[in-house]
Formats: sequence, C-alpha cells, structure tokens
Amino acid sequence: MEGFAGKVAVITGAGSGIGRALAIELARSGAKVAISDVNTEGLAVTEERIRSIGAPVKADRLDVTEREAFELYADEVKAHFGKVNQIYNNAGIAFAGDVEVSSYKDIERVMDVDFWGVVNGTKAFLPHLIESGDGHVVNVSSVFGLFSVPGQAAYNAAKFAVRGFTEALRQEMAQAKRPVKVTTVHPGGIKTGIARNMSAAEGIDVEALAKTFDKKLASTSPEKAAQVILDGVRKNKARVLIGNDAKALDAIVRLTGSGYQRLFSGVIAKALPNTH
Ligand SMILES: NC(=O)c1ccc[n+]([C@@H]2O[C@H](COP(=O)([O-])OP(=O)(O)OC[C@H]3O[C@@H](n4cnc5c(N)ncnc54)[C@H](O)[C@@H]3O)[C@@H](O)[C@H]2O)c1
Repeated sequence: MEGFAGKVAVITGAGSGIGRALAIELARSGAKVAISDVNTEGLAVTEERIRSIGAPVKADRLDVTEREAFELYADEVKAHFGKVNQIYNNAGIAFAGDVEVSSYKDIERVMDVDFWGVVNGTKAFLPHLIESGDGHVVNVSSVFGLFSVPGQAAYNAAKFAVRGFTEALRQEMAQAKRPVKVTTVHPGGIKTGIARNMSAAEGIDVEALAKTFDKKLASTSPEKAAQVILDGVRKNKARVLIGNDAKALDAIVRLTGSGYQRLFSGVIAKALPNTH
C-alpha cells in the first residue's frame, strides 16, 4: 500500500477517540471512508468533520458484536464505493474488575466487543479486501495485549486474543499469497474517553480510575496515535506500538519474561485504586 489516495477504508468505533482521528486522517490523505459506531451522536460529529474536508464518507450505526449486521454492512460498503481496501477494527470498551468479583456476563461482554467484534469485522471484510487486490486488515489490540495487569483480566484476555488472531492471519495471508497485509496495533495510554466510558465490577470507583488514567496514564493524543498507525500501515508493519510508554513496557516484558508480573503488580497497586 503506497498511499491512501483513492483507497476505501472502513473504521469501526469512529464516533470518538482513536477511531475518529483515524477516519479524519485517512480522509485528509485522500481515502474514501466508511465510518460506524454505536454512538450515533459522536459518529455524526466525525461525519461532519470529514464532509468539511470534502472527502467521500458513508456513516452508519453498527454494533460490532452483531455478526449478521456486520456481514450485510460489508456488502453495503462494497456496493457503495465499488471496492474495499482497508478495515480498521478499532471499536472497543474497557472494563475493570478482578476475576473474583467479575461476573461471567462482564467478561463475556468485553470478549464480545473487543475480540469477537474484531473477528466479525475481519471475516466480513476479508473477501472484499482480497478482491480489491490491495487490502489491509488493521486490528487494534493494546499494550494490554502484550502483558497483563491485575484488575484487567477480561480486557487482557480480549486484547491478547486480538493479537494472536491477527498475527496468525498475517502469516496466513502471506503464505496463501493473498493481496492482504495485516497489522496489529498496541497503543499505550491515549487521551480518549475510553476510561470515562468504562464499566467496572460492583464497588469499583470508576470515576477515580478514569481520573488516574486521564492524569497519569494517557500521554499520547488520538491524532498522534492515528498518524503512527497510518505510518505503520504504509510501511506494512506487523506490529505498531504507540507512545514511549508502550515501547518501554514492551521492552521490559521482553527483557524480564514472566518476571514483569512481579514488577508491574507492585506499580499498578500503587498507581490505581483497588479493582476488587
Ligand atoms: N485509549 C487508550 O489508552 C487505549 C489504549 C490501548 C488500546 N486502546 C484501544 O483503542 C480502541 C479505540 O479506543 P479509544 O481509546 O478511542 O476509546 P473511545 O471510547 O474514545 O472510542 C471507542 C469507540 O468504540 C465505540 N464502541 C464501543 N462498543 C461498540 C460496539 N459494540 N460497536 C461499535 N462501536 C462500539 C464507542 O462508542 C466509541 O465511540 C479500542 O479498541 C481500545 O481498546 C485504547
């Protein structure tokens, strides 16, 4: 993929944060964009920003957990633009709670959105990406797809699963000589609404958690995150790390092996309010 001009790009979770910034940056780079979200108000703001750039945009309400709707949507996007080159499976939710106090429902909900949403998007669009002759799947995991921390078992599980799924897909596409590149994205702390929109197990002070995230952990703007992702897509990187925090954490995990667990749990315990 040389540039984005004339390419058709699909972005889920485009009503806020990284998804909105990605959609705008892609539109500025000459792409035609299909944006979706469950948050239709936020999506309308993104749509308006893209229209003001003068780029072609198709905006739809789409819940990434609804598999049949996703399949129909993929065909609609193809019919609308005539082809589809890229999908950014970005939609996601956060959840806080130790395993002991998280319900099955809580854990399943995170897996449904953060993992199955990515699988649904990948599978629904893959035939169209192959057909385009120049496709790219971009799946958003997290630094929490590289290492685990207490209170994030459900989110960790979903983001590790996204990484496993996406890294296998990249190798499969290369082996089968399919014209589809595949990139996994691992953002560090990005200044978005993710922590404010988070849900949590009973008794957890979400507001305090969100405040700590906003003040201490979110260091990169969504616009910068979008630029780093698109640079990685241009260079066909297998893995994109966003932010110095992500790079440092990745290095520590690789250097210490499982030893990071002892290091991080102490740091997290100090930095974050209890999640149990
Ligand atoms: N912000 C961070 O620090 C950070 C770090 C690592 C990974 N991520 C990941 O980046 C991605 C984008 O998150 P963000 O930080 O921009 O958060 P955000 O909350 O600003 O945006 C996420 C968007 O996804 C949408 N969404 C949620 N559930 C959905 C569903 N079922 N169907 C369709 N849309 C849905 C939300 O309405 C929202 O607009 C997520 O996958 C998140 O896990 C974020």
